[in-house]
Amino acid sequence: MAAQETGSVSNACLCVLCGLPAAGKSTLARKIFSTAAQSGWRVTVVPYDDLIPERAFRIRAEEESSVKLQEMHTEWKLHRQAVLLCIEQFLMNPEVPQSSSLINSTAWEQCIQALQPHGLKADHAPLLFLLDDNFYYPSMRYEVCQLARKRLLGFCQVYLQCDRESCISRNQSRCQPIPTEVIEEMVKRLESPNPQKNSWEKNSISLNAADSLSECDFQRVMDLISSALSNPLSPAEDNTEQKEADRLKCANSVVHQADQACRRLVSEAMKTAKENQSQPEHMRSLAAQLNESKATFLHDLRKQVLQEVPYIEEDTNVEHIVKKAIEIFEEKKNEILSRTISEHK
Ligand SMILES: *[C@@H]1O[C@H](CO)[C@@H](O)[C@H](O)[C@H]1NC(C)=O
Ligand SMILES: *[C@@H]1O[C@H](CO)[C@@H](O)[C@H](O)[C@H]1NC(C)=O
Ligand SMILES: *[C@@H]1O[C@H](CO)[C@@H](O)[C@H](O)[C@H]1NC(C)=O
Ligand SMILES: *[C@@H]1O[C@H](CO)[C@@H](O)[C@H](O)[C@H]1NC(C)=O
Repeated sequence: MAAQETGSVSNACLCVLCGLPAAGKSTLARKIFSTAAQSGWRVTVVPYDDLIPERAFRIRAEEESSVKLQEMHTEWKLHRQAVLLCIEQFLMNPEVPQSSSLINSTAWEQCIQALQPHGLKADHAPLLFLLDDNFYYPSMRYEVCQLARKRLLGFCQVYLQCDRESCISRNQSRCQPIPTEVIEEMVKRLESPNPQKNSWEKNSISLNAADSLSECDFQRVMDLISSALSNPLSPAEDNTEQKEADRLKCANSVVHQADQACRRLVSEAMKTAKENQSQPEHMRSLAAQLNESKATFLHDLRKQVLQEVPYIEEDTNVEHIVKKAIEIFEEKKNEILSRTISEHK
């Protein structure tokens, strides 16, 4: 096989461990590590916190300055990509040291150290990377999935679900505690794996990590990984540009349909107000408020859809997205309407 000739690795799996800080990802990673190593696998934990040391600072800075947010997001993405690139280079050619100025090279060497073959058949032993990070946006996890597709690797995700309070109280007993604001910020942003919405997230399990993990849960994790190892992903067809165009079309279509639905809701609201004998000046004020609320809503929706564009799958159901989104506007509309009517009774 060509893969073997060039010294690259075949049977490998990228396992994403995601969840809030202090949800128990590192503890789980250590447990998987020792079980997998006992089975003769070559396994390593990829600790993003150690590889990208400035990170904690960045998250704090992001909160302070929303102006810089986009910029930092971009930079932060470069660091994550550097980690994935090192993994890819290792898989392609394990003998050549990988390097990147964007990650801590000592930490990376430690990471790779664990993967050195021991024993006779070790060259062919399954290779497992446990990616230990928060991965709070789907787009962050999707980057890993893309690498797995490109290099025909197994891919799976374990989400450790842990409520805010448990994470915060657990943090207290860590040797390098994380500031409360960082945890709070992540609670707001976290979008856990959602196989219904993103078909590429189908190899995911979600574990309740508020208490310590049961043996049964742990077995599910090991089964998930074994199954991912024996079912590597295949490359998505390389019609990238067409897909990009389709996705933009999808985003436009969502916003267009949502706009139509909003108009209907606004005219319904105006009709109701009229039936309830609202005065003309109150009707005008109502129209203006609804109009403004609609504009804000559509603006936010477009932003959100475009943000999701990089990982929207082809089979995305536009009507479903519109329906969910419209519920939010409808609530807002009802609130404005009843406020206007009751204020001027
Ligand atoms: C790089 O990682 C190593 C090992 O984790 C650590 O000892 C060292 O302090 C780190 N260096 C920097 C600049 O953070
Ligand atoms: C984590 O614990 C440290 C000290 O134990 C504390 O200073 C910090 O505010 C805590 N963070 C959270 C998120 O509770
Ligand atoms: C408007 O009037 C209808 C009757 O015409 C009444 O059932 C409804 O509760 C009123 N709506 C509000 C929001 O007051
Ligand atoms: C509705 O809002 C848009 C933009 O926010 C504005 O251009 C338009 O004049 C408004 N229309 C009414 C009827 O208030």
